[in-house]
Amino acid sequence: MSLTYQQQKLVKATVPALREHGEKISSTFYKTMLSEHPELNDYFNAVNQKNGRQPRALTAVILNFAANISNISELIPKLERMCNKHCSLGIRPEHYEVVGQYLIQAFGEVLGPAMTPEVLVAWTKAYWMLAKMLIGREQQMYKDFEGWTSWRKFNIDRIVSESDDIYSFYLVPQDGKRLPAFLPGQYVSVQIQVPEGNLQSRQYSLSEAWREDYYRITVKRDEGSAYSNSVSKSYFNPGLVSNILIDQMTVGMVLNVSHPAGEFFLDLNNSSNVPLVLISAGVGITPMVAIANAVLKSQPDRQISWVHGSRKAVPFEQHITQLRKNHPNFRTTIFKSQLAQSDTASVTYDHNTRIDLAKISPEDVFLHHGGAEYFICGPEDFMIEMSRNLISRGVLASRIKLELFTTGDLALKFNKKVMHNV
Ligand SMILES: Cc1cc2nc3c(=O)[nH]c(=O)nc-3n(C[C@H](O)[C@H](O)[C@H](O)COP(=O)(O)OP(=O)(O)OC[C@H]3O[C@@H](n4cnc5c(N)ncnc54)[C@H](O)[C@@H]3O)c2cc1C
Ligand code: HEM
Repeated sequence: MSLTYQQQKLVKATVPALREHGEKISSTFYKTMLSEHPELNDYFNAVNQKNGRQPRALTAVILNFAANISNISELIPKLERMCNKHCSLGIRPEHYEVVGQYLIQAFGEVLGPAMTPEVLVAWTKAYWMLAKMLIGREQQMYKDFEGWTSWRKFNIDRIVSESDDIYSFYLVPQDGKRLPAFLPGQYVSVQIQVPEGNLQSRQYSLSEAWREDYYRITVKRDEGSAYSNSVSKSYFNPGLVSNILIDQMTVGMVLNVSHPAGEFFLDLNNSSNVPLVLISAGVGITPMVAIANAVLKSQPDRQISWVHGSRKAVPFEQHITQLRKNHPNFRTTIFKSQLAQSDTASVTYDHNTRIDLAKISPEDVFLHHGGAEYFICGPEDFMIEMSRNLISRGVLASRIKLELFTTGDLALKFNKKVMHNV
């Protein structure tokens, strides 16, 4: 299925024109595909279609692939994120036929007469080269899922408020069978019916270390964008799924859940004992709870330093306090930007400001160790700021892992921006 030298040249020659019209490709390709294959609306995040994030992400990957078609090894680590996302959403090899057809049709519309029969053949081959890499990796992952390759029904067994707008859902499988192990940091997708009629899925990090009887996810209400005037503050475009989960889902109700997936994890199968630095903001705390709990259970002496920032209440506050009491090797630095009357310095918080790594001693983020691993999760700008700070103080980019709670294009741009330090 590889391209001849001539075909590689044909594909590469069209990339600048396709890049220039990337927005048009993104919008027409998905619009046509989803109107002619409405069943695919159940797979795609409706909001990411409206704001163009997902179509842009897919087109960008394909064009980058085409531009570097003679040297694709750089792309391989990036495929991991896509394949994990695809597998957590139940994407199948037959879906690639549909996507390929509409994508190449959109390329044809943009290129016009430049889409000669030879270019069409070359592009079709190029698409399938990439698609086969993804399909191959996804088949391997589905095999590891041992039969749980679609949605599995879970009962909501318990809902616990973790702070004003953050709730944990304890999910027990309806079939009563033992739950497969996952690596701390990974997520599941949750699928629900939305009022518009179709199904929508979102990812939620597992917020508890693996247990065979339940999984726990922790959901923050997405209020939407704030609009305020001199008298009041209101919100528009509230998040679809998080608000339904929090306002309408009750104990005993059923949720469709996917097999755990994700490439942001601590590899517990690796015998490493290097210190861990967990840096989280807001609801980015969720994968960190799973990582801390899993490590303190299996490697109770491992050094962990957790830096967390919340605007107000810190979710899982009591639990974190308990971990600190029980494990001298577990230290925390808590930043809170808005204090309540009940807050006490050095007890419920350490610094009354947004997270600022400069306020933490180098030892507390293991800067001199040389081998520590860094896990960061929070808003995009926050993660960029934290990574830049660490890299500028000598931490190797390869020792930093980031989890972005959104999809696509920014994730790719973002990795490039941070890792190449531009
Ligand atoms: C790997 C991963 C792990 C995650 N883990 C967690 C977790 O542990 N906990 C957690 O709470 N979340 C987590 N998330 C985020 C979660 O998946 C959802 O994105 C989040 O709950 C918001 O979903 P929603 O359906 O409520 O909002 P959506 O409806 O998807 O809306 C998202 C945003 O888009 C805006 N929006 C809505 N409509 C429009 C429009 N027409 N135009 C422009 N903007 C619009 C909304 O205001 C909102 O801010 C994770 C995401 C990923 C990718
Ligand atoms: C070569 C083909 C493909 C490429 C390059 C590709 C690329 C991508 C990328 C870059 C993402 C974003 C990952 C992230 O950062 O979260 C993504 C997500 C996704 N992809 Fe694909 N994809 C391909 C094929 C498909 C197919 C065949 C389907 C199914 C019809 C599909 C459905 C999805 C869905 C539903 C998401 C998540 C969307 C969201 O959350 O907004 N993709 N893909």
